[in-house]
Amino acid sequence: MMTIVIKVDPNQPEPDSINRAAEVIKRGGLVAFPTETVYGLGANALDESAVRRIFEVKDRPEFDPLIIHLAGIEQLESVAIDVSDLTRKLAKLFWPGPLTLIQWKRNEVPSMVTSGLPTLAARVPAHPVALALLKASGVPIAAPSANLFGRASPTTSRHVLNDLGSRIEMLLDGGPTTIGVESTVLDITTHPPTLLRPGGVPLEALEEVIGAIIVQEHSIPAGVSLRSPGMLSKHYAPRAELVLCTGKSPHEALRKMRHLVEKYLDQGLRVGLLLVEEDCSRFEELDVVIYPLGQEMILETIAYSLYAGLRALDDQDVDIILTRDFGDAGLGLAIRDRLKRAASRVV
Ligand code: TXA
Ligand code: MG
Repeated sequence: MMTIVIKVDPNQPEPDSINRAAEVIKRGGLVAFPTETVYGLGANALDESAVRRIFEVKDRPEFDPLIIHLAGIEQLESVAIDVSDLTRKLAKLFWPGPLTLIQWKRNEVPSMVTSGLPTLAARVPAHPVALALLKASGVPIAAPSANLFGRASPTTSRHVLNDLGSRIEMLLDGGPTTIGVESTVLDITTHPPTLLRPGGVPLEALEEVIGAIIVQEHSIPAGVSLRSPGMLSKHYAPRAELVLCTGKSPHEALRKMRHLVEKYLDQGLRVGLLLVEEDCSRFEELDVVIYPLGQEMILETIAYSLYAGLRALDDQDVDIILTRDFGDAGLGLAIRDRLKRAASRVV
């Protein structure tokens, strides 16, 4: 199949292009589109066979449920029951935006979308292209990240084509996404609510509004971890081995990294590093490939560069990639979560 790629203005998407994509969705086809976090691979959430194809083209196991994207909170009641005051409060503050809320599911939503769970995940994306597509198609759109299962999520149209080109009907190319890590997944069917995946909305911002939140270690959704322990531990991963260096201070993590880099170079390996500017001087004289993550203090840039960096180093055929932890404040928690899952080793 030829994937039709349509360039769209990320701020004011052309109605003709959006309408073409909406037609594909309504016919039961698959459209990849930009959101503010990463590119999504969308299908009509109410069309079971369209949703099944999402799992097929991504090679995604059917036990890993999808996020349903909505044009606005008004659409939530068409897929969820018992929409709570807490949902409305969070939606008012964070939607459109990178917050996914777990809700009780309506029977009308095919169980394929939720992998048989009685709950569903929903969010309103803050991207003009995604919102325009949702409005034009008039249906809720189920969309996981538009990458092959287990690989780094796509933050550019090139990433999507590399993974899914010729497997899907259409790609709306709206340029690079702005946040770069996926949405925060919060389960508000539990009391207190549970953070299932740290993401674009920092935990602190949610705690400020709703108080205590249970933070699941490793943040793997209950339904998934129970059925397949370990299955999802390697995720968002580059082809090369990734080593995550940690320590009580950046200094300690960097000392470990330097030591390992020298060892790998001695072994004749090609080494790639994901580094913030402040760390670069320590590796200057070594024969390594460096992908810059911006400045240490600006976590937004690190998050934005992370997946692109993993893919870029893979493209340069490195054998091993090293990076370090950037703390757990703000977006740091999401960055740490993705690095831990992508890593084959944490030292
Ligand atoms: O930013 C994002 O969230 C992107 C863009 C495209 O919106 N989407 C995304 O989808 O990251 P995906 O499929 O890669 O991740 C969905 C996450 C998974 O961790 C999944 O287990 C969880 O949401 N999830 C979905 N439904 C759930 C449910 N009913 N209960 C618990 N977790 C659920
Ligand atoms: Mg994903």
